[in-house]
Amino acid sequence: MALVTVAELTRAAAEGGYAVGAFNLNNMEILQAVIAAAEEERSPVILQASQGGLKYAGIDYIAAMARVAAENASVPVALNLDHGTSFEQAMVCIRKGFSAVMIDGSQLPFEENIALVKRVADVAHAVGVSVEAELGKIGGTEDDIVVAEQDATMTNPDEAAEFVERAQPDLLAVAIGTAHGVYKGEPRIDFKRLEEIKKRVDIPLVLHGASGVPDEAIRKACQLGISKINIDTELRVAFTQAVRNVLEAAPNEIDPRKILGPAREAMQKVVQEKMRLFGSSGRA
Ligand code: 13P
Repeated sequence: MALVTVAELTRAAAEGGYAVGAFNLNNMEILQAVIAAAEEERSPVILQASQGGLKYAGIDYIAAMARVAAENASVPVALNLDHGTSFEQAMVCIRKGFSAVMIDGSQLPFEENIALVKRVADVAHAVGVSVEAELGKIGGTEDDIVVAEQDATMTNPDEAAEFVERAQPDLLAVAIGTAHGVYKGEPRIDFKRLEEIKKRVDIPLVLHGASGVPDEAIRKACQLGISKINIDTELRVAFTQAVRNVLEAAPNEIDPRKILGPAREAMQKVVQEKMRLFGSSGRA
């Protein structure tokens, strides 16, 4: 199957009351782990590339890997730009074959964020690519993008309604208390705010920084209308822990396949667990 849009996958998720997982793609082992998990669970899945992922693997490799994965997979696969930083970057991703782009204008003043998202959405929609925007500022660290705790701001529900109407994104990432990276304590999610946003906004909503959020809170977020959930850090942790285990048990191992193979298996396990938790298993 060719790559499908994130809008298509998450519209079905919003109707079905579940969320589709979006997993950050940086190398072949991550790709194979995510796709194997999706096939095992019969789940739709979103691959996404962050700024760091694009820098590390290169946009051509990311686009080619995702295209090959989608063509060979028996479940629907989307490729999204994660936290796109400019109109130009979004356009390059579209030309390279991404089926979806996030344009993150959350650091900009409200009017400028609207203008940027609208500009990207006008072009993306003309060529069948879906667009995710962000309103409010999600805290934490995602590769090069760092938002200090004191600078994180929650999404205002009234502003969200106006933003979606004027900027025309297909999905909206909301700031409701999660943060990118490893949590120090337990995250406190503002479910009331999520409910208020959901009442006013009728496009699928996205939860960033979902690694380390307790299962119960994730289930509740799905019930209250989150349709896409981003996971990166938990894959990194599973990968690194597995590599560490191999090298501790066999310090003289020099075969990359014997080091990375178990890491791929460990990540697949995490992705399968997430798919069951998000309710996307059996939906493809
Ligand atoms: P985590 O690294 O906290 O899983 O967040 C991933 C994310 O939101 C990517 O945009």
